[in-house]
Amino acid sequence: MKLVPPLLFLTLTVIGSSQVLAFDPAAGQQLVDDNCDSCHGTEVYTRKDRMVKSRAGLTTQVKRCELALGLTWFDEDVENAAEYLNRQFYRFDK
Ligand code: HEC
Repeated sequence: MKLVPPLLFLTLTVIGSSQVLAFDPAAGQQLVDDNCDSCHGTEVYTRKDRMVKSRAGLTTQVKRCELALGLTWFDEDVENAAEYLNRQFYRFDK
């Protein structure tokens, strides 16, 4: 039975990391709906001269606005919100 502990460890590692990588845009939408309409509405996400130019830039901007609001979101919340905005408005591949 010497093989069991490493296999178990490997399985848990794979499950654990896939959870970290999986975005939850529905949770992101909830966060954005609840917190993000006091300074601007969704029109900034679709305007012609919008600032954000990449998926990574979207995460950076969400973080910036979230900090400006004085919220204390986890990285996961920031990613979920960015993923929601990307699917709904920006549609970057990367
Ligand atoms: C304290 C005011 C404020 C709040 C609250 C705020 N934002 Fe912003 N946000 C800004 C400003 C200012 C800009 C730049 C808009 C401009 O240039 O007209 C901006 C721009 C953005 C952009 C980029 C738009 C573009 O041009 O591509 C995104 C994305 C964004 N905000 C996301 C969010 C999210 C997500 C939240 C909620 C966590 C949020 N904002 C809450 C002030 C705010």
